[in-house]
Amino acid sequence: MSDRRLPGADLRTLLRPALPTRSSAQALAEHFIPALLAPRPGATVVDLGCGRGDSVDAFRAVDPSVRWIGVEVGDSEYETRPDVELRIFDGVSLPFEDASVDLVFSKQVLEHVERPHALVADVARVLRPGGIFTGSTSHLEPYHGRSTLNLTPYGMLRLLDVSGLELETIMPGIDGPTLFLRRLLRGPKFFDRYWARRSPFNTGVDAVARLTGWDAEDRNALKLLFCGQYSFVARRPAQG
Ligand SMILES: C[S@@+](CC[C@H](N)C(=O)[O-])C[C@H]1O[C@@H](n2cnc3c(N)ncnc32)[C@H](O)[C@@H]1O
Repeated sequence: MSDRRLPGADLRTLLRPALPTRSSAQALAEHFIPALLAPRPGATVVDLGCGRGDSVDAFRAVDPSVRWIGVEVGDSEYETRPDVELRIFDGVSLPFEDASVDLVFSKQVLEHVERPHALVADVARVLRPGGIFTGSTSHLEPYHGRSTLNLTPYGMLRLLDVSGLELETIMPGIDGPTLFLRRLLRGPKFFDRYWARRSPFNTGVDAVARLTGWDAEDRNALKLLFCGQYSFVARRPAQG
């Protein structure tokens, strides 16, 4: 039963139908990989802003025949591992033909990009019709590692929309208050657990929801309202 006075009810309305209705689990970008690769055997996958390039292991674990290509900017702080295919680009114009890629994966990169609208428009260009853009980015996360911007979940919906991509799913990640505290305390290892396991604010939302009867959409909207990071799946429509 939804509570119309829920903080975040406005966001809930805007993000439907991309909010999960059965669960309000916290998700990392890799969460979606098995379901997205299942209908795309031997897919061409681009990891945009691949960093070290370790996502290749997650993709190959699901489908060893996947063609994984990492893409990075020339002045990256990260050194990409030598056993993967890597292309360096200018941060906007992806080095791929139109409609040639099945899936673009981008984990915690958009918040470091200088021209996100131009870059996401180019993601849409290189995706095949029906292709997928998936990953995660930051909402309420303090400055870190040359980050340039934070995107609200609604900002993400709009960014995708103006690029011709449809948001299919959005899921909360680690909560913002936990990231604030982590930054304030200068990143003690103790906090690392909260990327993979439910973080304290999200635990609190679930506890209150048990008392109030908030459904999964309500919980997702509230967690997204205060999230530090979130994960998403978007699609280039099959037509157009
Ligand atoms: C926080 S790291 C994430 C690396 C990797 N995706 C991971 O999850 O380990 C952000 C990455 O974005 C890259 N980056 C910054 N601007 C970019 C752009 N315009 N296009 C692609 N990658 C960019 C940086 O070089 C850096 O490797």
